[in-house]
Amino acid sequence: MSPGRLTVGTVLSVSTLIDAHLAQASGLHKRFGDIHAVNDVSLHIDPGETYGLLGPNGAGKTTTISILAGLLEADGGTVEVAGAQIRPGSTRGREAIGLVPQDLAIYPDLTADENLKFFASLYGMPKNDAKTRIDEVLDVIGLSDRRKDRVSTYSGGMKRRLNIGIGLLHSPRLLILDEPTVGVDPQSRNAILESVETLSEEGMAVLYTTHYMEEAERLCDRIGIIDSGTVIAEGTAAELTSSIGEQERMRIEISGSVDEAAHRMESAEGISDVAVEDRAIVLLTDDGSRRLPDVIRRLSDTDIQIGSIDISRPDLEAVFLHLTGKALRE
Ligand SMILES: Nc1ncnc2c1ncn2[C@@H]1O[C@H](COP(=O)(O)OP(=O)(O)O)[C@@H](O)[C@H]1O
Ligand SMILES: [Mg+2]
Repeated sequence: MSPGRLTVGTVLSVSTLIDAHLAQASGLHKRFGDIHAVNDVSLHIDPGETYGLLGPNGAGKTTTISILAGLLEADGGTVEVAGAQIRPGSTRGREAIGLVPQDLAIYPDLTADENLKFFASLYGMPKNDAKTRIDEVLDVIGLSDRRKDRVSTYSGGMKRRLNIGIGLLHSPRLLILDEPTVGVDPQSRNAILESVETLSEEGMAVLYTTHYMEEAERLCDRIGIIDSGTVIAEGTAAELTSSIGEQERMRIEISGSVDEAAHRMESAEGISDVAVEDRAIVLLTDDGSRRLPDVIRRLSDTDIQIGSIDISRPDLEAVFLHLTGKALRE
């Protein structure tokens, strides 16, 4: 059902008609002991919109969406989805949400078909509706040709896709995906991204969490950058990148101490931010090619070996680095 189209017999609360947002989280807080996992998060998702929550591990993405989906009680704040307040234990509004957690909830000894049938019956879907919907879902997740095979024969990525299929069965208006491509093979990764694009074209709203800026850039109409439990910037990818001006991002893979390498960059001219990754340092610079000789000179000695140097136009990684002084992937 498309928003705002009323037919006789349709039950729509008045607030849905007045408020165009499909989902609205306001002032969410969640603490785990000393950790302020979610610290005053507010965001909204409009019908048909794909919203990305982009942030590193531990930023608070899973906690935020768990509250949004009514799985976890917030310490403060409110969530409204499709005109209903969402709280653990309440059922109103829940049917509008399809949550796909990272952990798999599928039976390896059953086929994809059997898994989907099982979950459809669990949701109380009439058999004929379920049959049609299962065909549609298998098509979207690209598993139609493997539907009769046992899930235990699937790759990790195919299992993840089936997990998404289960979240789609009841045709939610808002699909929430928690880092769906982490740890999957490239083929499944692409299939998952294409599924999200297809669902979005069909009008489904999507909340997509990721720490991959390429995915946020490709899929999302709007992106909230989250770090330490707080959404520190929000906008389209273009708005976010233009907010840091003409800075370029330089990523230098090295062998040797990344901390030492980062330290040597701190006083370099034209370098505004420096962060370390596992085997690389990342810099923001006003002019990559002009600063390159100085950067190389500062790094060249026997302790540090440069593997590769990459200079990119301003992107979401650069925005994150600029805002937090950290790399998105540590
Ligand atoms: N059940 C829990 N108990 C204690 N700490 C938690 C729990 N869940 C999450 N955290 C902590 O809250 C912070 C945010 O976690 P999470 O929402 O899982 O981040 P993300 O999904 O962005 O990686 C982290 O510091 C994490 O260790
Ligand atoms: Mg998470």
